[in-house]
Formats: sequence, structure tokens, C-alpha cells
Amino acid sequence: MLAIEGGKPVRETPIVARPVVYSEEVLQAVADVLKSGVLTAQHGKWVKAFEAELASFLGVRHALAVSNGTTAIHTALKAVGVGPGDEVITTPFTFAASATAVLHANAVPVFADIDRETLNLDPASVEEKITDKTKAVVVVHLAGMPAEMDAFMKIAERYGVKIVEDTAQALGAEYRGRRVGSIGHISTFSLYATKHITSGEGGAVATDVAAYAERARLIRAHGEVGKYSYELLGYNYRMTEMQGVLAYYQLRQLPEMQRRREAYVKVLLEELAPLEGDLLTVPKPRPYMRHAWHLVQILLAVERLKKPRDYVVEALRAEGVGNVFVAYPTPLYKTPLFQRREGHGIGCPWACPYYGRRTEYKPLPNAEWAAERVVTLLVMPNLTEQDAADTAAALKKVLTVLRR
Ligand SMILES: Cc1ncc(COP(=O)(O)O)c(C=O)c1O
Repeated sequence: MLAIEGGKPVRETPIVARPVVYSEEVLQAVADVLKSGVLTAQHGKWVKAFEAELASFLGVRHALAVSNGTTAIHTALKAVGVGPGDEVITTPFTFAASATAVLHANAVPVFADIDRETLNLDPASVEEKITDKTKAVVVVHLAGMPAEMDAFMKIAERYGVKIVEDTAQALGAEYRGRRVGSIGHISTFSLYATKHITSGEGGAVATDVAAYAERARLIRAHGEVGKYSYELLGYNYRMTEMQGVLAYYQLRQLPEMQRRREAYVKVLLEELAPLEGDLLTVPKPRPYMRHAWHLVQILLAVERLKKPRDYVVEALRAEGVGNVFVAYPTPLYKTPLFQRREGHGIGCPWACPYYGRRTEYKPLPNAEWAAERVVTLLVMPNLTEQDAADTAAALKKVLTVLRR
């Protein structure tokens, strides 16, 4: 009997996905920062050390730490020149920030459909959405799955648009032997608590283009050039030294943490193989991709189940799978913000006179298909192969009982 119906759960102690525990060395380093009294990046060494480490990890010329992944996207969009009157294409099947950062830049998000095999933006759909107003595409590597970067770079060349890689969920992923976040014109990262490396909150922007890096630097810190002289509209998007030291050490630990994620996912996929194509499908990386496994996205065969997807999620939790949730249940264009289109209080950017067009968000079939059947596991380096086996056992139990 299912645990949700009063049966014995697969796990008595629920599985919990936790960010890695910081070592004594890191705790000491944070204490040293606090004792030093140098708490901000302008005078400190740690944010700069993290930036150097990230640039070297990615193999790019410039990396800049910022306050979070959302401000990173805002900064990147402004750095490549996105502003009022522009359109930016992105996916509706993502966390809100991939699109709201476009609104922050006072530009209009245009949604393209996704590919059912990877759940990432479909290059053909992006190409269909390009207009004379398109300035950039925010390409999200969702869940850690690399997007089809070759196709996007070809589109960029053909139409003169800029590619912003939203790498918030994919630090360490690779596409044809290159790290994602090093392929587009500019890329962004999040160091939020659930991400591959974390400083609680935090973010970064990376690029090979010196002019973009220079603009991003100004945008990050009030647009200030020289003491109290302001060159452009900037913000305060700086990272603290306490975050910098955590980010630096976390990045050095990343390869080991990736190995642990991969070991967990390997067992999970092996154990789920008997259900593949029948009761569920897990989108897998193509042979030329290395997935970073921030999330495991599981697509349920909802037509074959007696109960709705949300019941499956509750049933899995009751079995002890504490790291299950739904990313993402609603394509962004269906949420009130995009339905009402009020934006900056009075309807901008949609109603901005520099834009001068009407936006209508029509349903995108693949995004809707994915949103209604996806179930997500949050992957963290603390998860063990036993956790993976138990999770697969819980899925087998729940889906078999609920089969129509
Ligand atoms: C795809 C994606 N983009 C952007 C962000 C925004 O990052 P942050 O939460 O650090 O602002 C997140 C996550 O939180 C994300 O998952």
C-alpha cells in the first residue's frame, strides 16, 4: 500500500538534498574575512580571486561576480545593449528570472517553444520568433542540460542577435567539449543556495568581449567612473567578501561535487530503466553533452495514471523522497505577470512607445506538454547511491500502483 494511503514508506528517514557542508578550512577563511574588517569587494581579495578562478574554469577572458543570478542576467542584457523597444527571446519553461530580467531591462520577453527531448529552447522555434526588434536570446541550460549552442550561435550570426547563456542551473556542464557559459556572447550564473556552487546568494557574468565586461563592471557599481562621477545608469549589484571567499572555495570543490552528482544520477537512471518509455521518461544528454544534473527532470506518462501529477508528487514525498518538487508547473506566459502585462506600473515595456507593437502570448504546445507532466528531483552532492535506489523504488511503487 502506498505510504500516502497509510502503507509503510520506502524510507523511514526522508531523503534531504543539502548544499555541501563547508570544511573547517572554509569556515576559518570566512572568520578571517570577518576579522579583517575588509568586507566588500572594492578593497578585498576574495571576490577577485573567485572571478579569476571562474574565468579560468570557463576558459573566458572576463568574469565578474554580482549579487545573484537575476542581477547577472539584467547586467548581461544591459551590457550587450538591450533596452526599451527591444525584444528578447527566451523559454517559458524556466525559473521566472530568465524572463523577468528582460523586463528589468525594459525590453519585451518573447517566448519560443522547447524541444521535448531536452526541455531546452528549440532553435527552430527561436528562429520563427525573430523580428527586426529582436536584440538577444536568453538561452537557458535548464536543469543542467546543455542547450544546442551550435544552432543558437548560427542564428546569432544570421540575424545579428546576441546570445546570453543563462547558466544558473548548469555550471560544469559541457557542450561538444566546451563548458557551457563560455560559448555565447555573454553568460550568467547563480550561486543561490541550491546551485552547483553557493555563497547563499550570489551570481556572476562571464564574457570574452572586453567591451561587454567593461559595461557590466559599470552597471554592477552605480555606473561610477572615478570618484562620484556617473557614466551611465548603474546599480549596486556587488558581491560581499564573505560571499567571495565561499564562492572561491566552492568552485575549487566543484569537480568532486560533480562526481558525486553523477554517481547518484547513474544509479537512479539504471534503476528507472524498466519504467522508461512506459510510465516515465527522463530527458538525457545527447552524446556530445555533459549534463550538470542540477535537477533530474522526470516526464510522467500522465495518460496512463489514475491520479494527477500533483498526487504523484505527494505520494513520493510520503514514501520519503524529500527532494521531489515540480520545476516548472506553469509556462511563464500563463502567470499573472505576463497575462496582465503591467510591468513597470504603467504597462512598460509592453506599452512602451519605443516598442509600438502589441504582445500576445499564444500557447506553446511543447512547453505546455512538459509543464503538465514534469516531476523534478533536486540533486545535491550529499545524495548517495542508496538515496538514488530508494528514489527509484519509490517511483516504481507509486507509478505501478497508480497505473490505470
Ligand atoms: C534558470 C535560472 N535563471 C536565473 C535564476 C536566478 O538566480 P538567482 O536566484 O540567483 O537570482 C535561477 C535561479 O534561481 C534559475 O534557475
